[in-house]
Amino acid sequence: MTIIDNYRKYTSRSLSLYREARSVMPYGVSSNYRYWEPYPIYLVKGKGSRVWDVDGNEYIDFNMGFGVLEVGHSHPRIVEEVRRAVEDSTILGFEYEKSVELAKIICNRYNVDMVRFSSTGTEATMHAIRIARAYTKRKKIIKFEGHYHGSHDQLLINVNPMRLESRVPTSPGIPEETLSNTLVADWNDYEGFERLVRVHGNDVAAVIMEPVAMNMGLIPADLDFLKGVFDLARDYGFLVIFDEVKTGGKFYSGASGYYGLKPDLVTLGKAIAGGLPLSVVAGRRDVLGVVGPGRVAHGGTFNANPLSVRVAIVTLRDILTEGAFYYMNSLSEELQKGYEDIADDLDIDLIVNRWGVSGTIIPAEIPPKNYKEIVRNTDFKTYSLYFYSMLTQKIIPMAYQEQWTISIAHTSEDIRNHIEKAYDTFKLIKSRGSSIYSELNLPDIEETW
Ligand SMILES: Cc1ncc(COP(=O)(O)O)c(C=O)c1O
Repeated sequence: MTIIDNYRKYTSRSLSLYREARSVMPYGVSSNYRYWEPYPIYLVKGKGSRVWDVDGNEYIDFNMGFGVLEVGHSHPRIVEEVRRAVEDSTILGFEYEKSVELAKIICNRYNVDMVRFSSTGTEATMHAIRIARAYTKRKKIIKFEGHYHGSHDQLLINVNPMRLESRVPTSPGIPEETLSNTLVADWNDYEGFERLVRVHGNDVAAVIMEPVAMNMGLIPADLDFLKGVFDLARDYGFLVIFDEVKTGGKFYSGASGYYGLKPDLVTLGKAIAGGLPLSVVAGRRDVLGVVGPGRVAHGGTFNANPLSVRVAIVTLRDILTEGAFYYMNSLSEELQKGYEDIADDLDIDLIVNRWGVSGTIIPAEIPPKNYKEIVRNTDFKTYSLYFYSMLTQKIIPMAYQEQWTISIAHTSEDIRNHIEKAYDTFKLIKSRGSSIYSELNLPDIEETW
């Protein structure tokens, strides 16, 4: 039986739900990132490191809500806090008392002076670039190819282009005028960045980056490159924005804490609220100081809602402690080691990149330093085979071409299980060659990226 026949065999209820869903939602999903060919699985619940689908299959989950659930699914302390919070109302309409306590926790932990809350990472990065433009009175923003900052128009360019051209909008429906002030640079390429800044530097309001790139697998920053970017920003008077929506939860104090750098603005989201929607734009007092009534706009009905605030306090204060990070990191390291051993034992080309509680594999010979190198050198067919094979063995290894996230609910047993299944997968791929790719009957790989 082929991998894809096997997938179809045990996910028949997902298929019928998908057919129903397609009639009321494009592609049957609420976010493009949840769709894959031939149809996605539909989940019903999660607990600890496990999730269950509508067919009753149990999976060990290493996607963990795209990096949100370091606390694990349905953590008892969080369930209790949500229950208590609901009893005191979920929206008060005025500022919530406990938002002050949470703001102080975040200022301390992430070494920032002030914060403003919102609900999603998309909102946080949208606010960050508006604040940077207002503060500097300049228009242009530099972003890096392959970096993703959410679904708002202005940064949706060169996020994951299979056409390697200098400017590729990530979606139809975004007017070129909207993108005309967004410049694109290559990650880890200091000379290229400097050339761009020499031409445009005096018009640039900010450079925004994922300080460890986590929307093209996982590509850490070269520290000298990062420092060079900070120096150029200071010389030309533009701001540095760390989009830590992902990285903020991968080490105790995120990338700025890890690298000992102090960006002017930081955005946070995902893991900080234990599974509830909460995001943050934070940074220097004088920069955040431009926000206010009649000044820079910042609003949102659900901003700092009591549910998210209370759960975030419990998450950051009581659950995602330094001890918890020590535990999650050591499991993440075990998983990294497991993949490195697989590559050695089977003598296959596999780059294993890890940063804190997350890591990824890239079927390639040479570690890529930026997006173009990923596109040119990755064996995407092998990656796809790996992904589907893991799913059929009831392991969700990571979100498609993203990274694993270890939670406090994972155990060494979960890691061993993951590695065993990955070993069997790569052994199969190696023994049968990429000819088995045709068995998948998937569309062009370019379209699935
Ligand atoms: C680095 C980064 N920034 C921003 C976002 C957008 O966050 P959200 O999906 O909560 O809007 C994401 C989402 O994956 C992200 O990875």
